[in-house]
Amino acid sequence: MSHRPAWAPDEIDLERPAPARMYDYYLGGSHNFAADRDLAEKALGAWPELPQVTRANRAFLRRAVTFLAGRGIGQFLDLGSGIPTVGNVHEIVAAVNPRARTVYVDSDPVAVAHSRVLLAETPNARFVHADLRDPDRVLADPALDGFLDFGRPVAVLMFAVLHFVPDTDDPAGVVAAYRRASAAGSYLAVSHGTRDYFPERIRSLEQVYSRSSATMTMRSHAEITALMSGYELVPPGLTDMTRWRPDEEAALPDPLDGDVKRYSGYGAVGRLE
Ligand SMILES: C[S@@+](CC[C@H](N)C(=O)[O-])C[C@H]1O[C@@H](n2cnc3c(N)ncnc32)[C@H](O)[C@@H]1O
Repeated sequence: MSHRPAWAPDEIDLERPAPARMYDYYLGGSHNFAADRDLAEKALGAWPELPQVTRANRAFLRRAVTFLAGRGIGQFLDLGSGIPTVGNVHEIVAAVNPRARTVYVDSDPVAVAHSRVLLAETPNARFVHADLRDPDRVLADPALDGFLDFGRPVAVLMFAVLHFVPDTDDPAGVVAAYRRASAAGSYLAVSHGTRDYFPERIRSLEQVYSRSSATMTMRSHAEITALMSGYELVPPGLTDMTRWRPDEEAALPDPLDGDVKRYSGYGAVGRLE
């Protein structure tokens, strides 16, 4: 039996690994339990670069969100936001626009507990405990009411989360529902794992994740492009995430020395015309 820390809500099954806490483990966080760490170690057996991959994903998130704030976007809906870590969306955008508003959405109870604590004193950010596969429920949440104005451009963020929505749950339909709710001039930012480079390795990883609380479905470049249909992708389009507008000034721009295959993740930002 795992020890239950004071911050862990009773509803969490400590013995059931969860992708949010495994991701926290790869990032070097402390909001994970023995069962999460055990399965995360198996995932690392299949894909040893996962710590670098998760950091590259966070770096892409930072560049994409900074880009969007620079384009004048002042409202962010971060779907599958995860357990708070270094450089959360509301903190990144505040550096460009201190009045920008962020709503975080996640279904993981640990992400819920930590986000609520972090945001208690943060007037420009809110949290919704919901499943992003239910857009009507998310968009009708009282937390959004009077806080995000969907009559004006908004950025919908889906970083490293669509690969937890299996084809049977109609990811294209889910993305389209958020798109239909968004005004012209809105954006969608996506990062997504791919099986294009190492299909065998990715299959092993998907098998590891089948023992967690969510399944993993890595997709091809064409499939991820299709998920973003209806959006005009800003240059350079859907590309290896480390190659999306790289920050030449970053201390460690590319820890895997430009070997994009070892990241096996694409990123893109699209605009709704
Ligand atoms: C790999 S983490 C990514 C976190 C963050 N977006 C990032 O890129 O750093 C995936 C997150 O999506 C959440 N998630 C997965 N499926 C979800 C769903 N159907 N609804 C809401 N959140 C979900 C998980 O709980 C987890 O926190």
